[in-house]
Amino acid sequence: MVISGRHKGNDNAAIIMSTIWDRFSPPQARTEHRDFLLKIAREEAKNRGIKIFDAALGTALDAIPLIKAGFDVTGNEADENYLKAAMHKLKKGRIRMDVVSFDWLGLDKYKPNNLFDIVLCVGNNICYLFGREAQRRAVGNFFRLVKKGGILVIDERNFQFLLDHREEILSRKEKTISEHKGLSRHILYGGKTYYPYPVAISEELVDMGLWKGGLPKPISHFYFYPFKEGELQKLLEEFFDRKKIEVYSDYERGRKRGAGFYQYVCRK
Ligand SMILES: C[S@@+](CC[C@H](N)C(=O)[O-])C[C@H]1O[C@@H](n2cnc3c(N)ncnc32)[C@H](O)[C@@H]1O
Repeated sequence: MVISGRHKGNDNAAIIMSTIWDRFSPPQARTEHRDFLLKIAREEAKNRGIKIFDAALGTALDAIPLIKAGFDVTGNEADENYLKAAMHKLKKGRIRMDVVSFDWLGLDKYKPNNLFDIVLCVGNNICYLFGREAQRRAVGNFFRLVKKGGILVIDERNFQFLLDHREEILSRKEKTISEHKGLSRHILYGGKTYYPYPVAISEELVDMGLWKGGLPKPISHFYFYPFKEGELQKLLEEFFDRKKIEVYSDYERGRKRGAGFYQYVCRK
């Protein structure tokens, strides 16, 4: 079956995910990620006010530290479950934020008063979209929201690693978790209780289980499009000058083959 656009499985999974997200992606796994975003935002701001658009708000794990650091953030969350979790947290913390709710494919209908200095699509989100046309449309919509001279920050899991080590990953879970940084519980995902680990890997789809420690089967699943090596970069180059795209591997400059995640800072 050829999937295009969103995967229904992810929409269904969001019901559970949104309730445990902050234990699945706890602060201790997000330190480097958070510091990376804060550093970029501070460098962009250089003591002036800047506007940030978080295209995949989730439970506001990126937005809240940015707001607390003094940045003006608008959050976008298309899924009602994540949106509810984010709103609850914002209310509880008495944090003010403009929130909108657009599917990335319909983000062209969003007409903000001003464009944004920084658009974020981070936390391994773009792989939720299947089909090149849908992916192109989403990236095009992110590009449109960035003001000239501003940046899009987008990231991806190193899916090529999963494809290249498919057999080992699927047969030797504990060994891979201990040896591979991206599947360890230290970058972005994996708290004491919940962690991600693939249960099926193909060129078209990665079925990423959501595991709860001690249980023999995942309690839920994410379905991701596995971008191949260089594939997302090529898509970004359809919109951004390739010389203005900086690649990071687990938050360090450059592309490293064994990285867990790649981050791209793309200047318009
Ligand atoms: C894994 S969550 C990550 C949330 C947050 N960025 C984080 O790191 O905690 C994936 C996010 O992508 C969003 N998403 C996936 N497909 C989308 C689409 N087609 N349009 C808008 N949002 C989408 C989901 O609603 C969810 O907020």
